[in-house]
Amino acid sequence: MLDTLMQWLHLGGVIVGVGGVAFARFILLREAAALPPEQRGPFMAKVAGRFNPVLWSAIGVIALSGLYNMASSLQAGVDARYQAVLGVKVLLALVLFTIAFLITLPFPALDGIQKQRPRWLLVNLALAALIVLLSAALRRM
Ligand code: HEM
Repeated sequence: MLDTLMQWLHLGGVIVGVGGVAFARFILLREAAALPPEQRGPFMAKVAGRFNPVLWSAIGVIALSGLYNMASSLQAGVDARYQAVLGVKVLLALVLFTIAFLITLPFPALDGIQKQRPRWLLVNLALAALIVLLSAALRRM
């Protein structure tokens, strides 16, 4: 029962996080770019104020449920190949989470990287696609 709940939470977090980022990158940022600069800044600040807590919560849910999934797989007994693919997946997930925090946390020291936000969102979407592929492979090992 707890396994099912954790799988549901893990996938729910991924759907909300990756879906939201894809919408922001391909729809929202493109439409916002068409706004006059004096409107764009305040509009994007409001959107970020609403979306960032959702994204940070999704990351928390994905990480906690992922750790539970990992503990339960390792406890059930998995071979070295499974452990290697899981290790790569977790490493990529940590890179993805780090990028997500660097481009959303409101610290002036991060202004440089935040100017490149569209590029880093694309990097994170590519990482997410790879992580989902590795997860599908894990399920079949
Ligand atoms: C700390 C980070 C994470 C850990 C420890 C983790 C761990 C796991 C584990 C152990 C599984 C079960 C694999 C199996 O079926 O044997 C799993 C499934 C999965 N994970 Fe993660 N994960 C993490 C982050 C992510 C991220 C960032 C994504 C997507 C961007 C993701 C997407 C998935 C998907 C799609 C599944 C398949 C679920 C299913 O088949 O029902 N995970 N994860």
